[in-house]
Amino acid sequence: MSDTETLKADLTRRIAEAGDLAALEAVRLEALGKTGAIPALLKTLGSLSPEARREQGPALNALRDEIAAALASRREALEDADLEARLAREAVDLSLPPPPRRRGAVHPTMQVMDEMIAIFAEMGFALAEGPDIEDDFHNFTALNFPPRHPAREMHDTFFLKPGPDGERKLLRTHTSPVQVRSMQRTNAPPPAPWIASGREPPIRIISPGRTYRCDSDATHTPMFHQIEGLVIDRDIHMGHLKWTLGEFVRRFFELDSVVTRFRPHHFPFTEPSAEMDVQCEVKDGEVRIGQGQEWSEIVGCGMVHPKVLENCGLDPDVWQGFAFGFGVDRLGRLKYGMPDLREMFASDVRWLAHYGFSAFSAPNPATGLS
Ligand code: DAH
Repeated sequence: MSDTETLKADLTRRIAEAGDLAALEAVRLEALGKTGAIPALLKTLGSLSPEARREQGPALNALRDEIAAALASRREALEDADLEARLAREAVDLSLPPPPRRRGAVHPTMQVMDEMIAIFAEMGFALAEGPDIEDDFHNFTALNFPPRHPAREMHDTFFLKPGPDGERKLLRTHTSPVQVRSMQRTNAPPPAPWIASGREPPIRIISPGRTYRCDSDATHTPMFHQIEGLVIDRDIHMGHLKWTLGEFVRRFFELDSVVTRFRPHHFPFTEPSAEMDVQCEVKDGEVRIGQGQEWSEIVGCGMVHPKVLENCGLDPDVWQGFAFGFGVDRLGRLKYGMPDLREMFASDVRWLAHYGFSAFSAPNPATGLS
């Protein structure tokens, strides 16, 4: 047997014996790799006589092609075997029951917010949004909180570190700054595309969102939610405000009649100002709306103060309006009876599974909004 034939027999045997892809790769490198046996033989062709070269050349090229083909077919066989083994190993038993699936739930605050938005949307209110990080002007000054007035302290404000210009931004203490943003027409672009910018009256907006105050007990959390409402038009009076809030509570609590009362109050940005209470009964720690002798405060409201209209560039002799601000979490507790407000934001999935809502029952807040 010639050397070439011996080499071919040896390589062919070793290819057939290679038990896995790694072993096969080792044979390939030895046979055809840069420093492999066949390239080494091919290199010697140059030093042969022309006759010898004519005889050896085709034989070596044929050897190279045959070995390459043998390697490829062995590789395919090994890969097929690999796949078969994996399929056998990873077989799925379709008769097994599926693992239990945990269903997510809608947080009560989001549910209540959606319910409120849907009711106001039906009444023709549009959505307006503002930033959580506000400046003093929108949160206080434009809303007629006098500078350095103790009323500012009322809100236990979280302030941010002063910026390079010395301005101290803050976490908004209420959603009322969105009133200002909705009325004030400025040349400055809004800080983000979703933030409300001033519009021509008539204005009818609600503004849901997060608000912050440095306060924490069973009925207060440092972050909570409010929905602000604002209506600006000609000849708007307290009667419009009373009807709107009365109609809202009837729809929200799904009762034909809910007894409400307006108590005089003070807010710097409304005159007159009031708080509206709903009649209720507290029995065994549960609050029942629409019966009983007790009152629960649910919303602050009033006629927009002429100074606020002026601060926002509207003429108070032409335009009037009313405004209101609901605490969403509080209202949720009243309707659905969660005992401790702090638990609402503790991110405990067991609490959420108990008090949460099915995603499919939530109203679609997009319906009817302009
Ligand atoms: N901003 C008030 C608060 O945080 C709530 C409020 C009261 C909003 C009266 C209003 C309003 O728009 O007219 O307590």
